[in-house]
Amino acid sequence: MYTIAHRGASGYAPENTIAAFDLAAEMNADMIELDVQLTKDRQIVVIHDDRVDRTTNGSGFVKDFTLKELQALDAGSWYGPAFQGEKIPTLEAVLKRYHKKIGLLIELKGHPSQIGIEEEVGQLLGQFSFSINNIVQSFGFRSIQRFRELYPSIPTAVITRPNFGMLSRNQLKACKAFANYINIKYTRLNRLMIASAHKNGLKVFAWTVKHQKTAAKLQAMGVDGIVTDYPDYVLKDGKHE
Ligand code: G3P
Ligand code: CA
Repeated sequence: MYTIAHRGASGYAPENTIAAFDLAAEMNADMIELDVQLTKDRQIVVIHDDRVDRTTNGSGFVKDFTLKELQALDAGSWYGPAFQGEKIPTLEAVLKRYHKKIGLLIELKGHPSQIGIEEEVGQLLGQFSFSINNIVQSFGFRSIQRFRELYPSIPTAVITRPNFGMLSRNQLKACKAFANYINIKYTRLNRLMIASAHKNGLKVFAWTVKHQKTAAKLQAMGVDGIVTDYPDYVLKDGKHE
């Protein structure tokens, strides 16, 4: 079972920064989850919101900044003074730093400005084909369908929204046509759904866990991965990291 650090070890460090990713690796996470978007000059950067306001000292939409302008922003101070000077990383820099050490679960954000991000991400991943484990995921099923058509050898995941109920056998079969994993809000998961996904050839991740008890419960239910802000909360061989 994978421990997947959500936006890095974002319970302890500013999300989607090298500080949070390094901490996730130190905590022996199996994978780092991160969010990607395109800049004005079509570089792939790691940031969650379509605006920079919440997680940097800047203001405006990611799509309206060049990479150079974005990297002049401080992406750490909002979280705490110890993280002052953290930058918005590029996906390429993250891949260079981690691709032989730890897997990446790369989320394509479905913001309307992100047309063509599937091609950009797939081409970049092609340059890192010897990575440990990279998976591309999105809430946008069409985006993952497109990604699979373009890059059939790269593993993919679909994320379901909290208002999604129990997935029918037909829905799971449809997902299996273009995804290897289904990433479900943990509150919607139960043993039956996990068994049904497994029977239909899909592995199951659970997002986003913030309590040790929840992690233990999901682990006992048989999920294949837990997406968490606190990678040290997930038991490995019966022990916490
Ligand atoms: O991995 C699933 C999770 O990351 C989706 O939600 O908003 O944190 O990107 P969000
Ligand atoms: Ca995400």
